[in-house]
Amino acid sequence: MNTGSAAGAEPAESGSASGEKGRDGAPLLRLQGIGKSFGSVQALSGVDLDIPAGQVTALVGDNGAGKSTLIKAISGISEPDTGTIFWKGQPVRIESPKHATALGVATVYQDLALCDNLDIVQNLFLGRELLRHRLLDEAAMELRAKQALADLSVVTVRSIRQLVGTLSGGQRQAVAVGKAVMEDAQLVIMDEPTAALGVTQTALVINLIKQLASQGVAVLVVSHNLNDVFAMADQVGVLYLGRVAGVAPASELDLQEVLQLITTGASTERDDAPGAEGGHAVDSET
Ligand SMILES: Nc1ncnc2c1ncn2[C@@H]1O[C@H](COP(=O)(O)OP(=O)(O)OP(=O)(O)O)[C@@H](O)[C@H]1O
Ligand SMILES: [Mg+2]
Repeated sequence: MNTGSAAGAEPAESGSASGEKGRDGAPLLRLQGIGKSFGSVQALSGVDLDIPAGQVTALVGDNGAGKSTLIKAISGISEPDTGTIFWKGQPVRIESPKHATALGVATVYQDLALCDNLDIVQNLFLGRELLRHRLLDEAAMELRAKQALADLSVVTVRSIRQLVGTLSGGQRQAVAVGKAVMEDAQLVIMDEPTAALGVTQTALVINLIKQLASQGVAVLVVSHNLNDVFAMADQVGVLYLGRVAGVAPASELDLQEVLQLITTGASTERDDAPGAEGGHAVDSET
């Protein structure tokens, strides 16, 4: 198996237009044969999944199916044991979160990403503050922050100088997405972005996610809420006990079928499960 040798690979192509494909029309990110075990627990095995630019891919599956483990592999938190990750058609190793960021991968966690005691602008520029004559360039940062939130149609925030601790869950999520956008991420990963959000806030976040994709960004969203999944996803991937039970365009799936894939790992509505079609699904070995 090819694990690639591009540790610290330069994000050489990252300056080009968002939404582009890699060489030979490869998807932005391709996972091939990804496996990961923790002791005797095989958390992932033989996972094949394509994440195209300009689309929302929803990753669903029951508790323990391997969703977070897969996200951690892509965001550089924990490297897979087997398989290859291709970025724009090139094999890469994503060895650290820093490396993931350098490639153009931003991961948005629901609660961890923001500092409550800082305002929106400070959060957006945390660790990468703009300077002018060795002083913080507050005016420039405010301008860019306003622009980023406006681009995402975030209109419900009263002031960009509001402390993040005083924002609602949906607004916080919006700021976290804005932060990913300002990092010029080409792939934004979100683990349960709408969990614990109300109806209005959920709608706001779903809108943001769709808008990101329409700007050419690849979005990978983990969600347990199938209504949300169908409201935002272009493509749905189902994990079952660490394997891909199915991948298909959302338009070809219905809620019942996805539920069945999640709970049984197979579908009676099509004979391609587990993962024989749609994406380049499983090449199983266990
Ligand atoms: N650090 C770890 N050490 C040992 N086992 C782990 C570790 N991380 C995950 N696992 C195991 O790997 C499997 C997949 O876990 P993972 O967290 O990826 O599931 P998940 O799909 O994200 O579930 P949930 O929907 O509950 O968040 C589980 O059986 C889990 O117990
Ligand atoms: Mg999880």
